[in-house]
Amino acid sequence: MISPRVREPAESLEERLSALLPCLEWPLHLPWIERIQRLKRARGALVLAHNYQAPEIFHGVADVTGDSLALAQAAREAEHPLIVLCGVHFMAESAKLLAPERTVLIPSLEAGCSLAASITAADVRELRRQHPGVPVVSYVNTSAAVKAESDACCTSANAVQVVEAMRSERVIFVPDRFLGAYVQSQTEVELILWPGACEVHEGFTAQQARHARERFDAAVVAHPECPPEVLAEADFVGSTQAMGAWIARNRPGRVALVTECAMADNLRADFPQVEFVMPCNLCPHMKQISLPAIDACLRALRHEVTVPEAIALRARRALDRMLEIGRGERV
Ligand code: 13P
Ligand code: SF4
Repeated sequence: MISPRVREPAESLEERLSALLPCLEWPLHLPWIERIQRLKRARGALVLAHNYQAPEIFHGVADVTGDSLALAQAAREAEHPLIVLCGVHFMAESAKLLAPERTVLIPSLEAGCSLAASITAADVRELRRQHPGVPVVSYVNTSAAVKAESDACCTSANAVQVVEAMRSERVIFVPDRFLGAYVQSQTEVELILWPGACEVHEGFTAQQARHARERFDAAVVAHPECPPEVLAEADFVGSTQAMGAWIARNRPGRVALVTECAMADNLRADFPQVEFVMPCNLCPHMKQISLPAIDACLRALRHEVTVPEAIALRARRALDRMLEIGRGERV
């Protein structure tokens, strides 16, 4: 299992940021970072940040960083009265579901997700009607209402494991058709897919991946939300956390991270000897989170994320089932 990364308070912030950001940029961020650090202490807040958050957030103010699964686990284990989720709305909902007694804030209510928006609870009920008795596994990139209609959730880190744990010849897998196709290539279980896609990852092409290898001699590391022809070009396919672990194990000289741009920005700190080359696409939802938005949210305690209890009870069951199945092999 790959644990969430917990920041060392003693690490020198100036040193870290000056190596990661253009020299003109980081002095602009420093006053915000200092204000947020003070507010965090005053509020007793824990800041969780996804791997796609900008470096000044990821390295400057986050207490815990990681992929969707790592953040869900960190929320469940948190002892702080207040959690600030720097990521997108479904991640904040998952944190609330797993830490119901804590207050969970998200710095921007605009931080949605094209995958989560592609399916509703009514769609899942209709799929169940069409395929009676077939269990439903939903990717965590879904609303709490969709999770509530599911037998178990999964992330890109444990999707194969969760599908196989359903012990069924057929499984309804929603909403990402590309992650679904990738899981299908790794398991004998027959998957019934939904036509959702991530607007960031569906934009990558096989030609870009080939170009990175041929022109830059780069290892191609891709997220499983990419189309199958892109994954066919990859040296490694895995969740955002697994990508970092693969680079740590293999130490390639050059890497094309076929995923959101911040991923490479953030990994540069851990792997200064690795050169990260294009392509990358920006997630407009993740980019709604900024240092001023985090400051405002902590100052005014605004944008609390709540889930109605009737939905929360069933959605939590699906998330708990995923966490019980465990992390194990990562896709
Ligand atoms: P991870 O679970 O790999 O962090 O991915 C979340 C996500 O939103 C990818 O687009
Ligand atoms: Fe959603 Fe894609 Fe953004 Fe991830 S990168 S949060 S799946 S839109």
